[in-house]
Amino acid sequence: MKAILCTHFGGPDELEFKDLPDPSPGSGEVVVAVKSAALNFFDTLIIAGKYQLKPPFPFSPASEFAGVVERVGAGVTGLAAGDRVLGYGGFGAAREKVQIGAQRVVKIPDKLDFDRAAGVTVIYGTTLHALKDRAKLKSGETLAVLGASGGTGLAAIEIGKLMGAHVIACASSDDKLAFCRERGADEGINYAKEDIKEALRRVTKGKGADVIYDPVGGSYAEAALRSIAWQGRFLVIGFAAGEIPKIPLNLALLKGCDIVGVFWGAFIERDPQGHQANMAELVRWADAGQISAHVHATYPLAETPAAIKAIADRKVMGKVILHP
Ligand SMILES: NC(=O)c1ccc[n+]([C@@H]2O[C@H](COP(=O)([O-])OP(=O)(O)OC[C@H]3O[C@@H](n4cnc5c(N)ncnc54)[C@H](OP(=O)(O)O)[C@@H]3O)[C@@H](O)[C@H]2O)c1
Repeated sequence: MKAILCTHFGGPDELEFKDLPDPSPGSGEVVVAVKSAALNFFDTLIIAGKYQLKPPFPFSPASEFAGVVERVGAGVTGLAAGDRVLGYGGFGAAREKVQIGAQRVVKIPDKLDFDRAAGVTVIYGTTLHALKDRAKLKSGETLAVLGASGGTGLAAIEIGKLMGAHVIACASSDDKLAFCRERGADEGINYAKEDIKEALRRVTKGKGADVIYDPVGGSYAEAALRSIAWQGRFLVIGFAAGEIPKIPLNLALLKGCDIVGVFWGAFIERDPQGHQANMAELVRWADAGQISAHVHATYPLAETPAAIKAIADRKVMGKVILHP
């Protein structure tokens, strides 16, 4: 089989496109023929050695995928060759075949296409956990989403609307904001043109946002927190801007607000049943067209370096998909 391999930490152009022997399933495992693999922002970090997870070399990037079960190992029940599935392994999906524990794949309905299915797990899984389990977002509350046209941002717009929130998309260009409105955002703030603190106050008529979803960090985080509502919740999702902000704690005191950490990767290990329930909900929503898993672009597997560069260059709206 063909695979994209990271043999040492470096940039996207240092990835190698290689032949590997086909895998065999061990006990409790399946082998899936990958039809679509989805990239995330953290793939820009994992190949550079800048992510919290550092897999042993050589490894493939791309943590999530959709495809067809090809072989089933001893002891596996409920899955058979030919089943259409999506799956999440943390890394390792940028290859033609994935060998993975059967509990890490979920069957998908016939009409959910592989490209959309591949990109459901990370961005929507993170966001459902963030908005439902961590922020306890309530219908009628105001939700401000930073980096709103990116993967997790798009998921926050769509799940926020499904949960009944008034959604304010915040992004760096008018094109990105137009995309966010098409996906359901009620309002838009261009933080490249306007100070996000003043803009959030203006849009919420001085009250501030009840929940702030921040996958960007950098200088936006503190400015956004300064306009959170009384007893609001600020969700720490990620730091795509590169800088981890240092927040003055008096802001939490003055706003009576919560600064809430979200670590989806740890959640799925610590609460597998909660994760499975969330995934069942997400597959239902995707099947019903209630979440889009919008595909920005698809790339042949050999062009994985270009796909990763598009994410790092801040050009992507929604998901980037690889086709082995
Ligand atoms: N906490 C968790 O459990 C969890 C789970 C999944 C992902 N994450 C993290 O969440 C963050 C976002 O992931 P994602 O998949 O949504 O990424 P993405 O699709 O690349 O979107 C990130 C957004 O951040 C903004 N941005 C600002 N400065 C940027 C820069 N220098 N480079 C790239 N983007 C920049 C961009 O929007 P504008 O141009 O509009 O500013 C971009 O759309 C990452 O740090 C990721 O590791 C955390």
